[in-house]
Amino acid sequence: MSSNSFQLAVMPGDGIGQEVMEAAVAVLDAVEARHDFSFSKSYVSGGSRQYKETGVAMTEDAFEAAEKADAILFGAMGLPDIRHPDGTEPAPQLDLRFRMGLYAGLRPIRAIPGVPLALASPRAREIDFALVRESTEGLFASRGKGTVEDDTVAKDTMVITRGVTERVSRFSFDLAKRRSERRNRKGVVTLVDKSNAFLSFAFMRKVFFEVAGRQADVEARQHSIDAMALDLIRKPWEFDVLLTENMFGDILSDLGAGLVGGMGFAPSADIGDEHALFQPCHGSAPDIAGKGIANPVAMILSAAMMLDWLAVRHGSSRLSEAAEEIETAIDAAFGAGAVKSFDIGGQDGTSAIARAVIEKIKNP
Ligand SMILES: NC(=O)c1ccc[n+]([C@@H]2O[C@H](COP(=O)([O-])OP(=O)(O)OC[C@H]3O[C@@H](n4cnc5c(N)ncnc54)[C@H](O)[C@@H]3O)[C@@H](O)[C@H]2O)c1
Repeated sequence: MSSNSFQLAVMPGDGIGQEVMEAAVAVLDAVEARHDFSFSKSYVSGGSRQYKETGVAMTEDAFEAAEKADAILFGAMGLPDIRHPDGTEPAPQLDLRFRMGLYAGLRPIRAIPGVPLALASPRAREIDFALVRESTEGLFASRGKGTVEDDTVAKDTMVITRGVTERVSRFSFDLAKRRSERRNRKGVVTLVDKSNAFLSFAFMRKVFFEVAGRQADVEARQHSIDAMALDLIRKPWEFDVLLTENMFGDILSDLGAGLVGGMGFAPSADIGDEHALFQPCHGSAPDIAGKGIANPVAMILSAAMMLDWLAVRHGSSRLSEAAEEIETAIDAAFGAGAVKSFDIGGQDGTSAIARAVIEKIKNP
């Protein structure tokens, strides 16, 4: 592909994944029409419904299509009632992370104008931090490998490696540097761990500070996970980039989403050295699927993150401008009260929100 033309693997998946993907693709089409880049989209099927029908959640061909693409846009996969015989759910999104080495799970948490916040403090409007969840090891290294002995003891083992910790630390410092350029203040990366109690976390902390020692422009700090659970409620506006082990990041990112309006407003990216996948933090939401009321903002913002990642990778200012256009359009649509989604007590469904965002893109 030329530097202006990109191949996207589009995986809507299950439940509302299908609905929010349609909205995000419409928004992408709108920015594409205004710029000199283009996307060629291949739709790739997969998920729990497919597992139920065929016995395979994602085929080898589908994995290969994802690996070949310049970027992957992912809706959501999984349905609580469809499970493997051992009680776990098929989760191709986790398989993709491990298979493609997508070690950096980036979850920006930002207060969007007009969207009600969980905290009463006026400072909650300043919330703008980015959580980096290591996504290929930690406690999740044990996924599919845990043991139950004699129906009396269950064991899952946490794994922290030097190589991945170094890479995800460097990713976090680079991110803080880029954020500081945009926000005109020094970046700070805070490692969130439990190094006072566990050897694995003490090792992660040691490696993190070794990498930090080579970063002149960004400050490195450490915070215990329990204290962070407190401080993300007490003063979340004070944080910049948070780096966590996989399981802690899984939990804190939902807490973060809760601070800024809920899962419908929480985008994410799973980034490796060669590949990246962009998806909302939420799942397939079977309780609201098929009703047209899912909030597509998390999916649309994930598509904007994809543009930003492609922009850095391919040195394209047009792509980063397009990412900003999407964010600005969402802020304008919600900030001006042009739309209010169901999850925050409004009456605007998935397609109405997509239309409002597209309108703001066309007429900023
Ligand atoms: N990355 C993924 O694909 C992913 C992530 C999480 C959960 N899952 C799967 O999704 C299924 C449902 O999981 P769950 O119910 O725990 O989590 P969920 O995120 O699907 O839903 C949690 C709650 O948030 C609401 N919600 C989520 N997204 C919303 C949106 N865009 N707009 C409005 N409301 C929204 C839902 O209605 C529900 O009440 C499970 O099978 C789970 O394994 C998949």
